[in-house]
Amino acid sequence: MLHLTFRQLGIFEAVARHLSYTRAAQELHLSQPAVSMQIRQLEENVGLPLFEQLGKKIYLTEAGRELSHYGRVIEQQLSEAESVLGELKGLQRGKLRISVASTANYFVPQLLAIFSRRFPTITVSLDVTNRETLLRQLGENNVDLVVMGQPPVEADVEAQIFMDNPLVVVAPLDHPLANKKKIPLARLQEETFLVRESGSGTRIAVERFFSERGMRLKTGMEVGSNEAIKQSVQAGLGLGLLSRATIEQELTLKRLVVLDVAYLPIMRHWYVVHRKGKRLSAVAEAFKQFMLKESAGLMDEEPHGPSKNKKR
Ligand code: PGA
Repeated sequence: MLHLTFRQLGIFEAVARHLSYTRAAQELHLSQPAVSMQIRQLEENVGLPLFEQLGKKIYLTEAGRELSHYGRVIEQQLSEAESVLGELKGLQRGKLRISVASTANYFVPQLLAIFSRRFPTITVSLDVTNRETLLRQLGENNVDLVVMGQPPVEADVEAQIFMDNPLVVVAPLDHPLANKKKIPLARLQEETFLVRESGSGTRIAVERFFSERGMRLKTGMEVGSNEAIKQSVQAGLGLGLLSRATIEQELTLKRLVVLDVAYLPIMRHWYVVHRKGKRLSAVAEAFKQFMLKESAGLMDEEPHGPSKNKKR
């Protein structure tokens, strides 16, 4: 078994690089005899000469070249270990600032709970707001990650899809269309819809979908949250067009139904977004990878996951 220390290896590496005891000694702030002595000890341990002297110059022997090769590999591995350990330290002390669209509030907390169980020492600050505010936060660079239904095209952001986000028509259980199959899309124009506030991504997606088809929905009340829309639909104030993620409980408890309408659901996706070129902290990077790789599978196991759609 080879007995050598990292210190000897470091000294050997410096001599091999300079091919000079004197210059290696200068670099390492050691005396020249101290360097020669360490090399002599190393050669004794190895059992072979590592340098040979020809005239005034020294050269690496074959054993020296081999050791130099392995020395570089060991050094690379050590520096890799150092950076991995550094990241782990960052992960343990890290803080995650995440902002999500109000609609994503129905599944992001479950994901955060699973993530926090894996990294129990991190702290999370979660803001739930609408699309308009999310865009402002991205612009001001005061969040690590944003979860939203449609990344902005004009802004400088990196956005990756991690899950489907179907929008469906929801109605009260006793609605005349509740049990109908393949309701024509145009039939919806006879109904009154409750709509989200104007900064909402859901609202923008609904308006775009119908206007692309030359249709216009009759809109009733403007309602500032998914929760309030669900309550209003149950109260018979109109129909709603909501992300499937928001109504799992109402479907299970049979308080609302999803209408079977041709060409629906409106298929959207969830994106994890951050500013382009942003240097993510270890925690933010870990959460982003967690969302991208594992969220769809984990959500399928959750009793009230947003949808049974598979990740694309
Ligand atoms: P919002 O979210 O309707 O709550 O704004 C959905 C989205 O970002 O599209």
